Amino acid sequence: MKRQSIRFYDAHPGIAGLRDEVLAGFTCQPRMLPPKFFYDAQGSLLFDRICEQPEYYQTRTEMAILDSALPDLVRRIGAECLLVELGSGASRKVRLLLEGLHPGGYMGVDISREFLLESTELLASDYPWLEVHAACVDFSHRLDIPPVDIDRHKVAFYPGSSIGNFDREDAQRLLHDVGRLVGPGGHLLIGVDLKKDVDTLNSAYNDAAGVTAEFNLNLLRRIRRELDSDIDPETFDHYAFYNPLLGRIEMHLLSRCRQRVLIEGQAFEFERGEGIHTENSYKYTVPEFAGLAAGVGFVQEAVWRDPDDLFSVQLLRYEPDPG
Ligand code: AVI
Repeated sequence: MKRQSIRFYDAHPGIAGLRDEVLAGFTCQPRMLPPKFFYDAQGSLLFDRICEQPEYYQTRTEMAILDSALPDLVRRIGAECLLVELGSGASRKVRLLLEGLHPGGYMGVDISREFLLESTELLASDYPWLEVHAACVDFSHRLDIPPVDIDRHKVAFYPGSSIGNFDREDAQRLLHDVGRLVGPGGHLLIGVDLKKDVDTLNSAYNDAAGVTAEFNLNLLRRIRRELDSDIDPETFDHYAFYNPLLGRIEMHLLSRCRQRVLIEGQAFEFERGEGIHTENSYKYTVPEFAGLAAGVGFVQEAVWRDPDDLFSVQLLRYEPDPG
């Protein structure tokens, strides 16, 4: 089959990004690694498997909400928009939108280059009528992509409650950048995981099959694969729990023993039980998220939820203050 051409914009941070951020993260106290580094090829596959775990309700719940909200969404947005998917990964949820909304253009934005190229090429061949763009960008610091399709109504799509992986300040900074991208009157369709009972949350990040643990430990495997390091993932444990005071799941890797780890010639000492903080996943109530988004000029236009109030899909409209 003939390959469709994709307009590709590559701003991948490369190996220096991983090296510098890992060294900085191991040097500070408490130690931390940015969750964006989970998503190399293996991490992205592991994340796909997390999404299939019975305890991880997010993915299937969001799909069901999107499916039932589609007619309303089409009525509100109309056809021929430019759909920009943030953190597009395997781009499965977006197929529902492509078929229902029939946008004129699609742009996938992701830090994982191979995954992005594979998935956008597949979309381009499955939907020959669609103009497909791909931007390999690390938007955890700044969402900076070249302007495309200036005249089309722009709709950013940020599914999976990935906004929860940002602290509140960074989440607002990202929403602010999204506002600039879609422009006044443009939309953001976003998946937001809701606050709920602690047991449901704790199980979602401690699945019985151990896939989330593997996903967390893959971060150390990646450091070993890509950097000069003797770090041994077998000497760390996955640890995840819901912190109700901060309204977030916290994921850590805890050292099983006292040890010294070498990374790029630098030595790091770990006491037994000392950890590396690898991820936060914030959960919101619907009014909490409305407040966060309003702070940067987004108005909640519609909110759809599942019958058990586990998850929400929200349509926000960018209406910045004229001043
Ligand atoms: C991508 N992100 C929204 C997931 C989450 O639930 O915070 C990542 C994840 N971490 C552990 N399981 C899933």
